[in-house]
Amino acid sequence: MNRRLGSGSLVIATHNAGKLKEISALLGPYGMKCLSAGSLGLPEPAETGTTFVQNALIKARASAEASGIVSLADDSGLSVAALDGRPGVYTADWAQRQWFEGKPGRDWYMAMGKVEGMLCETGPDTPRDAWFSCVLALAWPDGETAVYEGRVDGALTWPPRGTMGFGYDPVFVPQGSELTFAEFDPEEKHRISHRADAFAKLVADQFS
Ligand code: IMP
Repeated sequence: MNRRLGSGSLVIATHNAGKLKEISALLGPYGMKCLSAGSLGLPEPAETGTTFVQNALIKARASAEASGIVSLADDSGLSVAALDGRPGVYTADWAQRQWFEGKPGRDWYMAMGKVEGMLCETGPDTPRDAWFSCVLALAWPDGETAVYEGRVDGALTWPPRGTMGFGYDPVFVPQGSELTFAEFDPEEKHRISHRADAFAKLVADQFS
């Protein structure tokens, strides 16, 4: 059985304001006071792992060690079956542009095009199965950890469709739907996403 959080402070090991807001809203009802790694001035560790679990643990452990407070980190991405699970932990890197709209940044249409191009190169009948993963890692200052893995399965479509969501949402059609995640009502996406799956597991383990 995993160690319990109880109530009190929890550092969210992210410098992304959107993630902090989303995670704080999810954990607020359970009595957790969420602090951000950014507001505590914690450094961002290099994500040198080769799996989502390794990278989530690197971020959670670094935050717990530096702050002395139990910390939560997440790592997520898209895996394509016919590409042996790529881009996987490199999902965000595939969108990296030295220069995008006049400044360094990410170009998601370039990244989606790269995945589609690689799939086309493997042949017209290649299965288009793909999945999003989200791993949540908890780390306590004494070194204890707990990991929760979420996943949503689906298929890639082309061309991209929809204007909601972010990242690879316009090319991902979850199983049982004809709409891409970018065509979903955001609340509906949050109900069935890989992130929702991982959080449901964390909440069941920590707060039930
Ligand atoms: P990270 O977890 O912040 O490292 O982000 C990994 C990358 O995976 C993000 O930048 C997105 O491109 C992609 N990703 C993760 N979750 C989603 C999602 O729900 N929709 C679309 N793309 C996602």
